[in-house]
Amino acid sequence: MAALAARENAYVPYSKFKVGASLMTAAGKIYSGCNVENASYGLCNCAERTEVFKAISDGEREFKALLVVAETPEPTALCGACRQVIAEFNIPEIIMCNLNGKIKVVKLAELLPYAFSGKDINNTGDC
Ligand code: THU
Repeated sequence: MAALAARENAYVPYSKFKVGASLMTAAGKIYSGCNVENASYGLCNCAERTEVFKAISDGEREFKALLVVAETPEPTALCGACRQVIAEFNIPEIIMCNLNGKIKVVKLAELLPYAFSGKDINNTGDC
C-alpha cells in the first residue's frame, strides 16, 4: 500500500510518530505522503497535507479518496488543519486505518461539517 511505504519515509525526530497517507485522483493516479517535522514544532507538516500538496503542485485538481494510516489503537483520525485542506479540494471519501487493519470510511461532510469554504468569503471589499 502506497501510504505504508510513504510512512516509512516519515521525518519524525521529535514525535517518533510516523504517519503515511495516500490520495487517489479522479483518473486513478496515486499520490502518497508522510509527516515532515521541524525543530520549530509549529512547522510540522502532516502526511495528509504533504500528499495533497504534492498532487496539487503536479496540477491535479479532482480526487476520489484519501487514506491515512498510523500506529493508533483505532483508525487514525485526521487533525483539524488537514480536514480544512481536504475540504478545500473537495476530496469526497476519507479512509482512516491503523496498522492492525482497523478501517473507518467517512464522507467529507462527516469529517468536517459546516466547513468554512471559498463560498463564505465576501468579495465585495466592504469589510
Ligand atoms: N500527524 C499527521 O501526520 N497527520 C495527522 O492527521 C495527525 C498528526 C503528525 C504530525 C506530527 O508529525 C505527528 O503526527 C505528531 O502529531
